[in-house]
Parts: sequence; structure tokens; C-alpha cells
Amino acid sequence: MEAKNIDLRGFKFIETADGSLTLYNPIFDETYHSKTAGAVRESLEKFVYPSLILEKAKSQKSIVILEVGFGLGYNAAVAITELLKVNPNLKITYWGLDLIVNPLIEKLSLPQPYGEIYELLKHRLLKEKKLQFSEGNLEFNLILGDATKTIKGLNIKADAIFHDAFSPQKNPQLWSLEFFKEEKRNIKPEGFWVSFSVAKKVRQNLLKLGFKLFNVKPVGRRAPSTAASLNPPERLNEYLTPLEEKELKKLLKG
Ligand SMILES: C[S@@+](CC[C@H](N)C(=O)[O-])C[C@H]1O[C@@H](n2cnc3c(N)ncnc32)[C@H](O)[C@@H]1O
Repeated sequence: MEAKNIDLRGFKFIETADGSLTLYNPIFDETYHSKTAGAVRESLEKFVYPSLILEKAKSQKSIVILEVGFGLGYNAAVAITELLKVNPNLKITYWGLDLIVNPLIEKLSLPQPYGEIYELLKHRLLKEKKLQFSEGNLEFNLILGDATKTIKGLNIKADAIFHDAFSPQKNPQLWSLEFFKEEKRNIKPEGFWVSFSVAKKVRQNLLKLGFKLFNVKPVGRRAPSTAASLNPPERLNEYLTPLEEKELKKLLKG
């Protein structure tokens, strides 16, 4: 879908807890980020830190990220900036999937240190209309279209999958077992799938596919979020706690 064909009526800018702005999407009747966690804080604490990519960036030469729901590009800008802070020579390959490039991102900005990469992404996507580009050690690819279809053409091995669709209630097709199978095909065994959801069905689908589950330290609410890996390393970080036996039993019971 071309950006210029989107009906922007009903989209609203909303301030989140850390002062960063997000958007309300009237089609899905949901905001792009948690108002109570704060948009930038959510990127860091629900996606970047629990995915263990910063730890891996210290010893690996390259990191591959797949984001389902590129949205406003916040997770991308935050992750790329944080990775380059840890290892300025790192080769980063970023794959984003979304229905559209939302033209309203032109009006959004991110605080430093994320502003620089965010402005670069916006410039390439909106001004130059490039969905694929290389910049230094960054290779960026945004694939537009329904992710249930576009993911089938993807054949990568990601260190992290940022699963950032709208909620399972509003966006169920991106939380199905079939969709998770496609994500499993595109992740390294030791890679981490991370998402804001703690829904039972979501966790059960991940378990069915052989993922080991982790609670991610809550941010902006009482409930944790979810991280999952097929073959997690022994050394985790403070954001990740393996599910307790009783939580697992409850999930397996149905
Ligand atoms: C919660 S927002 C993502 C926020 C984003 N990760 C960020 O950092 O700004 C969810 C995104 O999923 C996208 N989406 C919803 N259904 C989709 C589908 N079937 N295929 C691809 N993208 C979809 C929406 O367009 C929206 O941009």
C-alpha cells in the first residue's frame, strides 16, 4: 500500500509516560506503544534488553534482527543505536515487516541518543522513498504487505525477533501458530523472540513449537512480558527469568 493512499483521519498523537509520543491507530483501535511504560522505555526494556542482542554484540561480528510490526520505527532506532554503542564495528542487518510506511512519522522525533538514527530512517523511508538501504555497517530492509504473506518469502536466521504486532485480540493473524512457525523458521536456535504479550494462548503456541519461555521484568504494569528461545544460553541477564514449573504446568494443562 502506498503511503499517500492511507486515510489518516482518526490517527492521534499521544504522549507516553517517558515523554515520547506515540500514535493511536483507529483501524486497530490501539496505540503503537504502551502509554504507562513510555515508548522509548518499552523499546529498551521489552525488546532490546531481554533479546540479549547487546550481550551478543560484544562477541559477534554481526547481528540480524527481524521486527514484525515496524510501526513508527522506534524499536529499530533504539536497537540500532544501542548496538552501535556497544560495538561501533558491528554489522547490523535489520528486517522490518509492516503493512505501510506511516507518513505521520514525519512529525515524530526521538530523544538523543536515538534521534540521529531515527532521522536517518525517516529520511530514507519518507523523503527518498527507499525501503532498502545500506549506511555504514547497517543494512536495512522494510518489507511492506501483509506479514502473514511476506514472512513466507523471508529466509533468514535472526538473532532476535521483535514481535510487535498490535494485541492478540486486535491483530490475531499475527499471533497464530502458523505465523509463529514462520518466525521459528527465521530465528537462530539461540536467538530470542521477544514481545509485550503475556497471553496464555500466545505462550502455549510458543511452547508447542519447542520454545523455552521466560518472564521479562515488568515495565509500566504488574504483568511481565514474554521472551522465548529454542536453545537459550545459560547466562541470561536481569530482564529474563525462566518460567517456574507451576506456570508451565498451568500452560500445558490448557
Ligand atoms: C504496535 S505497532 C508497532 C510499533 C513499532 N514496533 C514501533 O517500534 O514503533 C504494530 C504494527 O503492526 C502492523 N501490522 C498490523 N497487522 C499487520 C499485518 N497483517 N502485516 C504487517 N504488519 C501489520 C501495524 O501496521 C503497526 O505498524
